[in-house]
Amino acid sequence: MKYQEFYQESIRDRIAFWEKQAREISWFQFPQTILSQNDEGYYHWYKGGKLNTCYLAVDHQIMKGRGHQTALIYDSPVTGQQATFTYTELKIEVEKVAAGLSRLGVSKGDRVIIYMPMVPEVVFAMLACARLGAIHSVVFGGFSAHELAIRIDDAQPKVLLTASCGIEISKVIPYKPIVDAALEEAAHQPERVVVLPRPQAQTSLQSERDLDWHDFTIADHPIACVPVDATDPLYILYTSGTTGRPKGIVRDNGGHAVAMKFSMQHIYGMQPGEVYWAASDVGWVVGHSYIVYAPLIHGCTTVLFEGKPIKTPDPGTFFRVVEEHQVKVLFTAPTAFRAIKKEDPEGDFRKQYDTSSLNYLFLAGERCDVATLEWCKNLLNVPVIDHWWQTESGSPMLANPVGVELLPIKPGSATVPVCGYDIQILDEQGQPAAPNTEGAVVVKLPLAPGALPTLWLDDARFQKSYLAPYPGYYFSGDGGYQDEEGYVFITGRMDDIINVAGHRLSTAEMEEVVASHPAVAECAVIGIYNELKGQIPVGFYVLKKGVNQEKEAIERELIQMVRHTIGPVASFKRAVPTLRLPKTRSGKILRKIMRAIADQTAFNSPSTIEDITVLDELKGLMQREKVGLVATEENAINTKKD
Ligand code: COA
Ligand code: AMP
Repeated sequence: MKYQEFYQESIRDRIAFWEKQAREISWFQFPQTILSQNDEGYYHWYKGGKLNTCYLAVDHQIMKGRGHQTALIYDSPVTGQQATFTYTELKIEVEKVAAGLSRLGVSKGDRVIIYMPMVPEVVFAMLACARLGAIHSVVFGGFSAHELAIRIDDAQPKVLLTASCGIEISKVIPYKPIVDAALEEAAHQPERVVVLPRPQAQTSLQSERDLDWHDFTIADHPIACVPVDATDPLYILYTSGTTGRPKGIVRDNGGHAVAMKFSMQHIYGMQPGEVYWAASDVGWVVGHSYIVYAPLIHGCTTVLFEGKPIKTPDPGTFFRVVEEHQVKVLFTAPTAFRAIKKEDPEGDFRKQYDTSSLNYLFLAGERCDVATLEWCKNLLNVPVIDHWWQTESGSPMLANPVGVELLPIKPGSATVPVCGYDIQILDEQGQPAAPNTEGAVVVKLPLAPGALPTLWLDDARFQKSYLAPYPGYYFSGDGGYQDEEGYVFITGRMDDIINVAGHRLSTAEMEEVVASHPAVAECAVIGIYNELKGQIPVGFYVLKKGVNQEKEAIERELIQMVRHTIGPVASFKRAVPTLRLPKTRSGKILRKIMRAIADQTAFNSPSTIEDITVLDELKGLMQREKVGLVATEENAINTKKD
């Protein structure tokens, strides 16, 4: 069946379509209703269905005869280690952790926070939680103790799992001190903290609370998969919102499992037994969905890569992994390939490897600039697919569905809506925008299976952030436009969220930190164009009267404060003083205009001489401080669309 027919069926005959897809996975009890709405009007998929996600990812695969097939390949250039686990071995490892958790009293519905690097144990831990019906919440290692504390207080975990360290290229990052600091700050205290010792960093277990991983796991102790409701949460994953408080995205078990299976086959074109590699981190949604759950639920082999696209040891590392493990589909963020291109513009490292196993390169997580897309295509000689999704959706909402039909690629577009997602572009009045006219990217409700049913213990915020802006629709927070052929082009966030090296961050959160500096009267943090990371945050601040501290010293302190409060992942490296910030009459800071000046895109000029002067001053400041003002082909395209 061709894409158009398939997609139209998924919208026109939604229930029959997703009932059929639900039959592709194995249920303990098939759902009584495919789609329902609760009293608040929120949609739920597969009510009455009973299943277990770990069963689907592990036990069911063994039952289907995949016991001897490799399920997981651990490839770690930062430690020089490699390991493989068959599905049978994976089950043994998962059961060891599940038994350990169970002994610590973890059962269905309990939360477990996982703050771990990219080691096989993190996969075992996630699956072990799923096996018990417990809800995991993985926190990305690049976040600070404070960020971890916020998540601990919100998720209220019974147990926290960590490791002695992570490894960033050659830098060893001790994790346990971060956990200890987070627990000092958090009001909620997990009963136990389990630490996986790694040879690169010693950890002393200081109290009754801490437990060594090897004393925690229990071998030869079979643990059955606990049946859960399709609507029970599998995990909570926190993501940046427009305030300092992250949003706890809830993922249910039933819709998620169906979406994982569906996307592997129809979007990525994978067959069971083939090798899939998502070069991301389990701390992000890409890692949850496409390192762990989807490949395993589909009976594929997944690669867990502990390294970076460059310097581990060189820009050929991705191609080595493709050749060595016969990867069919590689999925990463454009920034990874920009990093490779920067170090090896001619692609000489790629020539050292046979990458003929690769059928497609999928890119997501940030806008894919045309130059990078073209460079990747020439380098790898495979279709390069830009696709669009969010932590909220858990799987792509716009894609080129190569498993159904490879549609012509239009650089700059994430292609067409994925089955079940009725994507529309609305103007400021909430009316459908004309083709090629930019507006808000929304999804007519209901969302497809796998998308968030709500936020963790916060229906009100779910309603306010996603449903209230355009009644009857889910608001993605992104802007974009659709051409006459239905291709959607995402142009960027309409709010204060930025994407730094494919990592989603809140500038509002950074502003809170900058504003707390004793010398700062007021400030704005904006995301500006960066050649490597797509965007980077830059702070502009107005000094308090009478302060005469040197700007270099303030900048150093602000960088340190953001690093300490949010984490190194924020990549906050610049903060510059300004005499005033551009504002509306009502005093709202004109961040969008500041961004437009920095990125040299078009904006509506203010009418008064005074306002024009403020903007000119700002431009002069950016010139002097060498912040932004980089004219790019992409920005020029955006300007035309504005
Ligand atoms: N644990 C601890 N620290 C981490 C971390 C982790 N898991 N991940 C990142 N950091 C730190 C880095 O060490 C760096 O610290 P530094 O300021 O002391 O150098 C900082 O956070 C910023 O990291 P990053 O944004 O990754 O920048 P980088 O310069 O180290 O690497 C890239 C740049 C492009 C190579 C890298 O971002 C990359 O590989 N991106 C791939 C995209 C990706 O995985 N996206 C996820 C969604 S698909
Ligand atoms: P995250 O929730 O971390 O996956 O980030 C989601 C956000 O990343 C989206 O709202 C977009 O702003 C951005 N994004 C993801 N994929 C793309 C893409 N293909 N093109 C443009 N922006 C993207």
